[in-house]
Amino acid sequence: MINIKDENIIRDEILEKVKELYKIREQKKSFIPGKTKVNYAGRVYDENEMVAVVDSVLDFWLTLGVKGREFCDSFSRYLGVKYCLVTNSGSSANLIAVSVLCSKTIKNPMKPCDEVITTAMAFPTTLNPIIQNGLIPVFVDIEEDTYNIDAGKIEAAITDKTRAIVFAHTLGNPAEMDKIMDIAKRHNLYVVEDTCDALDSSYDGKLCGTFGNFSTNSFYAAHHITMGEGGAICTNYNELYKAALSIRDWGRACFCQTGEVSGKGACGHRFDYKFDGLPEGYDHKYVYNNIGYNLKPLDIQCAMGIEQLKKLPEFTKIRKNNFKKLYECFKKYEDVFILPRSLPKADPSWFAIPITIRETAGFSKKDFVTYLESKLIETRMLFAGNILKQPGYKDIKYRISGDLKYTDGVLERTFFLGVYPGITKEKLEYMIKSIDSFFENNIK
Ligand SMILES: Cc1ncc(COP(=O)(O)O)c(C=O)c1O
Repeated sequence: MINIKDENIIRDEILEKVKELYKIREQKKSFIPGKTKVNYAGRVYDENEMVAVVDSVLDFWLTLGVKGREFCDSFSRYLGVKYCLVTNSGSSANLIAVSVLCSKTIKNPMKPCDEVITTAMAFPTTLNPIIQNGLIPVFVDIEEDTYNIDAGKIEAAITDKTRAIVFAHTLGNPAEMDKIMDIAKRHNLYVVEDTCDALDSSYDGKLCGTFGNFSTNSFYAAHHITMGEGGAICTNYNELYKAALSIRDWGRACFCQTGEVSGKGACGHRFDYKFDGLPEGYDHKYVYNNIGYNLKPLDIQCAMGIEQLKKLPEFTKIRKNNFKKLYECFKKYEDVFILPRSLPKADPSWFAIPITIRETAGFSKKDFVTYLESKLIETRMLFAGNILKQPGYKDIKYRISGDLKYTDGVLERTFFLGVYPGITKEKLEYMIKSIDSFFENNIK
């Protein structure tokens, strides 16, 4: 006869084994300077994330459900916003944000060929939704050392076609939010804050991601907290939230949460609506009022996100400390490097430390990053540099306001190094020693 164990006992046994596995892996971790790679970013987790994910897999609900709702509740509470929707990536969150602002279901939607002010120094998917929605990006330059949209140049770019400002807080460095929001208010413009690299950064005591009509987050493995892949879109506006839910979920009109649609639906009127052209009482679940996508994550990802969010305060502390130590190191060589600057009201939780090689340095970005990579210290470009120079963007319609002097400077001379919590004290010391020896040994 088969001995049928209680399901909870089996589950507990599996989860205990997961904890054991985590501990074994941890014990095997070691860092040998010059032999072990220093990653610029990565997942930082412990047994709690592994247990949460496996537990969710064992539930085998799989699609978005109870963990998704729990994550959204925790995340909106943390950020202090009314609505949060999880997505399968930060790129998807950006796509939803701009698509909602073009949706006929909102009061004052943008129309094709309307203009959106943004920067050409960009991660591609901050810009792409503008192009994908048939809008015209209008590029203004960034500041040389904050790497953010130059708020002082926005007003000169505004025409009667301008409808929105879409930008990222570059590498976690808060943009000049008081100025941006003031301009947006005076000119009646939508604001989308791409906060994918700026979770837990704040400006004037207010968290980034709480200023605009929408903010977006990424929970890709490199980001401040992770679900592996994943993202979120947040807003304080009910109308925008409903449209975002629709566009995320195939464009449907029904605003039940996934898995909630049964019987009469959450609204109690699932079969009571009448839409022009559709039969009386056509199931609201199959009424489509937007041309949407399916951009939902799995519940399993959200189970991980719940645990990661608990670690955010500690992560932020380490990011700030790692940034400070690397900043102090680069400061010794200010004659050859432009150091990053944050505004007086900004409190960044840095995604990374951006460094620009001065034109007069006597060595190139390529020289310096290939040196660091030879020391197994990972380096990254500040995304696309000037995205207009990227092959895929040669034929897009756009307008430039002023010039893109500092945007081009990023393309030519800027790179970044990681500050993520996986960079331990010994890795940090190795990084600093390697940077110093570039100069001590006159490698330049
Ligand atoms: C500023 C910015 N926006 C958007 C994204 C896209 O996020 P995801 O990789 O989750 O699609 C990234 C990715 O790193 C990013 O840095």
